Amino acid sequence: MFKHSSSRYTAVAIALHWAIAALIIFMIWLGWNMDENETRYQLHKSIGITILLLTVARVLWRMLNPPPALLAEMKPLEKIASHYVHLGLYALMILMPLFGWILVSISKFQVPTVLFGAVSWPNLPFLSGLRGNELAHVIIETLHSKGAWVIIALLALHVAGALKHEFSSEEGVLKRMIPGLFGKTQPPAAPARGFFIAFGGAALLFALIAAGPVLAQSSTPDKAAPPPLEQETAVATSETAPEPNWTVDYSKSEIRFSGMHDGNTFSGTFKDWTADVAFFPDAVETSDVRVKIQTGTATTGKKLYNDSLRAPEWFDVSHHPVATVRLTDFAKAETGYTATASMRLKNDTVTTPLTFTLDIKGDVATLNGEARFDRKALKIGQISDPNAEWVSDDVTVTVTGEATRK
Ligand code: HEM
Ligand code: HEM
Repeated sequence: MFKHSSSRYTAVAIALHWAIAALIIFMIWLGWNMDENETRYQLHKSIGITILLLTVARVLWRMLNPPPALLAEMKPLEKIASHYVHLGLYALMILMPLFGWILVSISKFQVPTVLFGAVSWPNLPFLSGLRGNELAHVIIETLHSKGAWVIIALLALHVAGALKHEFSSEEGVLKRMIPGLFGKTQPPAAPARGFFIAFGGAALLFALIAAGPVLAQSSTPDKAAPPPLEQETAVATSETAPEPNWTVDYSKSEIRFSGMHDGNTFSGTFKDWTADVAFFPDAVETSDVRVKIQTGTATTGKKLYNDSLRAPEWFDVSHHPVATVRLTDFAKAETGYTATASMRLKNDTVTTPLTFTLDIKGDVATLNGEARFDRKALKIGQISDPNAEWVSDDVTVTVTGEATRK
């Protein structure tokens, strides 16, 4: 009997089908196996958003390159079933990432999303009013977790249909999605087109979303601008400071913070800060140092930490770009000196002892100091981690550097 072969999907459609299928199956496993594991959460979000991007490209590609017609010999009911299973799978490829994206956008835990550790991904802006809303969270969480089961059910029908039509039909369908399997299929009827439209369009859409917050900030400079100076520097200017008599060499100086996160030490520095240093070795008690730190310049070497630190529950950089530290009550100690550090961060002022050594050679002084701050007292990270299960309460701040006498 004459056995004619059906035409197959385009190479791009085939590649997208199998890439997305593998990623989705991995994602369901990952979703079930990521409790208490922040690295896996970030991977889940990264791959989920990638699936959304690939699906946008896939849908655009399909519009430009219609798939081969369903097998002629399929019964009308089978055609309808096949059509709706495909439609359902497409819907879930879009809805599952969207539910996930909504979920993190409204979660009371304001953990940023950094795709593959490299690209900051924004939360959905129009949902910020629902953040922390328990009911909305439960509904979306249920849709997201039940959605995985709907995928599994549709996948079972999908695979059963594909296998049935592969082995019981004259033409077979699997070989349309896996070229070269059990015989030959015709290449697609028309040459493929629209590669740049499909992938460029999807990539552009995602680039715009990722760039959104940056563009929005630069178009509303008022929001990003520091609040009036008096407010932020209230502590630093509450009394007239003695005239600074040392010049800090910023290229040789550093303010470093370090703590523990999930069992590992993390550490970072503020890239931009200034200090007015009035220090009198012969009358230390009259010394007074005022430091202004640009909180938005905290850099840790890990994008997820950097983004977290800028978020509202941590430094809240867009509302409080500057933190101030004032050092007073200087006294000589057995080795070195002690002072009291009053740090004003956001709207709170916290005091803690600072110990330091100073090595003065001629007009150049080399400083080595350390202070410990309590995250709880500073009210930072108190929504996502109030009990310090992830990030230690204790944050050690070390200051090292050089200054020259004026
Ligand atoms: C989560 C995993 C999967 C998803 C989301 C998925 C989704 C889809 C979708 C939406 C289509 C329709 C393509 C179109 O016409 O635009 C399709 C076609 C197809 N899929 Fe899957 N699929 C998955 C896994 C599988 C697996 C494991 C097999 C292997 C048995 C398979 C075999 C096929 C075949 C043979 C076709 C072509 C059907 C035809 O020519 O009518 N798929 N798939
Ligand atoms: C095709 C894409 C996706 C699939 C198949 C998928 C699947 C899953 C599954 C199976 C779970 C476990 C649910 C449960 O505990 O029963 C889960 C949880 C979760 N997913 Fe996804 N996901 C996808 C995309 C995303 C995206 C894009 C995000 C965020 C941007 C996301 C965020 C989450 C979160 C936050 C949870 C934990 C929910 C909870 O608190 O229980 N997912 N996902």
